[in-house]
Amino acid sequence: MTGMRCSRIILTALAMLLVGSPCTYAQSSRLWIVTGNNVADAAQRSLASRQSVADDLVVPTFQVINGMSVADIAESDLDRFSNWMHRACPRCGGFTVHTSREAALKEADNPAYKPGFRYLAPLPEALDQQSTVGRALDRVKGDKIVSTITMLQGFGTRHYQTSKGQEAAEFVRREWQSMGQERPDFTVALFSHHDWLQNSVIGTIRGASHSDEVVVIGAHIDSIHWKNRENPKENAPGADDDASGVAVVTEALRVLMETGFKPQRTIKFMAYSAEEVGLRGSAEIAAKYAAESKSEGGQKVIAALQFDMTGFNPGKDARDIYLVNDHASAELNGFLTKLLKEYNHSGAHAITHAETKGCYACSDHVSWTSNGIRAAWPFESPREQSNPYIHTSEDLVSKLDPAKAARFAKLAVEFLIETAKGVDGRESYRN
Ligand code: BES
Ligand code: ZN
Repeated sequence: MTGMRCSRIILTALAMLLVGSPCTYAQSSRLWIVTGNNVADAAQRSLASRQSVADDLVVPTFQVINGMSVADIAESDLDRFSNWMHRACPRCGGFTVHTSREAALKEADNPAYKPGFRYLAPLPEALDQQSTVGRALDRVKGDKIVSTITMLQGFGTRHYQTSKGQEAAEFVRREWQSMGQERPDFTVALFSHHDWLQNSVIGTIRGASHSDEVVVIGAHIDSIHWKNRENPKENAPGADDDASGVAVVTEALRVLMETGFKPQRTIKFMAYSAEEVGLRGSAEIAAKYAAESKSEGGQKVIAALQFDMTGFNPGKDARDIYLVNDHASAELNGFLTKLLKEYNHSGAHAITHAETKGCYACSDHVSWTSNGIRAAWPFESPREQSNPYIHTSEDLVSKLDPAKAARFAKLAVEFLIETAKGVDGRESYRN
């Protein structure tokens, strides 16, 4: 899942109009995809029943390797492939995108998914930030989350190949910048991707004493419309998927700034581009950090938490948060459970939780996991009761529950305070 070089293909007038940029964004190069084990069967079935031609998509021929399905595909078919997969194989999970067959085969045999895989640095053992956490939790506000979601859905689409998608990324950069403007230890940067228009956004609070150790919270900034064969680049308000995640990340940043929290470790706030077409933005970012962690003195990511869909309440008997338990770190899920028990067992900040089965590569946490970095994805519902409006023009803030999303922001704040520890924290966590 490494970065791809900017294409040298001749830019057509149409592409100029679409992306509104002087740079070329590859539309026709071939990529390799890796998906869950039953996609190959679904492809065969769909070929046999002649449903294979979805919006003119030639469904790729999959090879099954180590129980994963691997195939090559034209880059310009990625949107339609996502669309096909959701109709032909709704429970197959997501897919990852690679620039070569070798990289795809490596992913199909990734040691980081196997039991017993050891991560770089340990998580803190003790939870000892009660007063800092208590002050922060009191400040989390559902209405702030709603206003960020409302702004983001207002772009109409945040598709990764559109100028609206890029405007949304610039909006997030400005918002984060304004929240941290008083802080010399805070910076925000756009992360550009060679092959598409929309940037990712990365905000950084530099760690006061262990700046080379990094904890990450992230969400995806792009959206897509892929039901009913409509244009995937339009009518994609993406309120729950995933403005609600970006809003949670934004609220965690706002609260940490308001309380003057100064971390010992570096904290990174990320809004990833191009999740909806195979986790491509986060894949480039995670690969860059993984490579850097191998160099002497390079930054090391200790853990990454993904927020993707935080506001939809599937029913009155539902728990508040579901920890996805596959292709995520069991150790980090255990740590989150510890946080929820310590800080959210009762009272004004009570949060109920359970586990749910996810899928192979349904969100950006997998970009970290696949690079050997522990990651987790706290989700809003059991997988089988998930929000029916996502990827349609009906994924709107009016369908969401602000109090539900606020609980995810509370978990984000607890996670950051306990993993990055404040400069006045009692514990030395370099164990
Ligand atoms: N937020 C969704 C994940 C999701 C989808 C959760 C459906 C629950 C139900 C994410 O943005 C997404 O759409 N993921 C794709 C995979 C991606 C690699 C195209 C998926 O789950 O199929
Ligand atoms: Zn999605």
